[in-house]
Amino acid sequence: MKTYLFSPGPVMVEEPVRQSLLHYDICHRSPEFEEMFAGVQEKILRLFEADDSYYAVVVSGSGTSANETCLSTVFRDGDEALLINNGEFGNRLQEILEKYNVPTHVVAPGWANTVDLNEVEALLKAHPKITYICMVFHETSTGMINPAHAVGELAAKYGKRFFVDCVSAAAGEHIDVVKNHIDLCTSVGGKCLGAYPGSAYVCGKEDLMAALSPEMGKNVYLNLAKHYQMAKKCHQTPNTPNVTLFWALDAALDWTLDREGLDGRIARYQTCAKILRDGMKEMGLRFLLPEEQMSNTVTSVFLPEGRDVTAFVADMANSGYTVYAGKGKYFDMNMFQVANMGAIYPDDCKKFLEVLRSHI
Ligand SMILES: Cc1ncc(COP(=O)(O)O)c(C=O)c1O
Repeated sequence: MKTYLFSPGPVMVEEPVRQSLLHYDICHRSPEFEEMFAGVQEKILRLFEADDSYYAVVVSGSGTSANETCLSTVFRDGDEALLINNGEFGNRLQEILEKYNVPTHVVAPGWANTVDLNEVEALLKAHPKITYICMVFHETSTGMINPAHAVGELAAKYGKRFFVDCVSAAAGEHIDVVKNHIDLCTSVGGKCLGAYPGSAYVCGKEDLMAALSPEMGKNVYLNLAKHYQMAKKCHQTPNTPNVTLFWALDAALDWTLDREGLDGRIARYQTCAKILRDGMKEMGLRFLLPEEQMSNTVTSVFLPEGRDVTAFVADMANSGYTVYAGKGKYFDMNMFQVANMGAIYPDDCKKFLEVLRSHI
């Protein structure tokens, strides 16, 4: 039985991405690695629609490792952060900021609620020591897109840096770091880009990265200054990276940027999401969010009254389809999440709907 991942990472990969894992063995301290890494860095900038004032590095780890690399390095003593938190991954950023003792002003409208920009602006006015606004682009736990452009405008207006967790957004949404005034952002291979988990990356303004010193980092491995300086010096990483996964990241970037095209990929994701959403509406299922707030790749859906989400997820898995149970309070409300990330096409979505119909 062919199995399908309709989960928000890991995702189904295209065949050239899978085949890339069979590359012959190379050392990460070699010209061959350096050449490949330099190419990957350039492609990551294209993924974020960055200009040449940005620089990219790759961290061997999951999405949290890239977020922690940034947030454990960029704050100096006395700096404060403003965090917009409206879901599980906002919570995760808060946990990181707390762990590294960064005084943080939190705007927390609650899960699945939109942020009040007046509240953000009032905090910026009241707390001049805030140096960074931090936010999740696509809050995966609800499927909501946060207002990157509006928050970026506020960051620019008040002379603040803007950090955005784009872990579940890059390659699924236009990140447009320049237009959205994003100074520093992160993502991973194993979600909308269609590579494997274990490769994370950071894209940020080069002046920002160049001004960091390794001593500012409070973490030995996840140190943005060390990553930047090593990459800049010789297109290598400070520690031994997951070399094999770099080939897969490279192949997925080629597929996304050149074979499918970023616009084409995003359009496919929108088409797939529409098929899924129209089909689920026809079945009478209710969504967590109004459709205009939803991302291109995640839909949060309530099961019919009385249908238990744990049993439903198991039944779907037995039919070959992986979906997620809702997180936090949504689990108790029998909500599930269906994602259309990676190598999922319209026909797959139609088949998914047939299976779903038989299990609700
Ligand atoms: C928006 C967002 N941020 C951070 C993470 C954490 O990533 P990881 O589980 O790869 O560490 C996730 C994972 O799904 C996510 O969706």
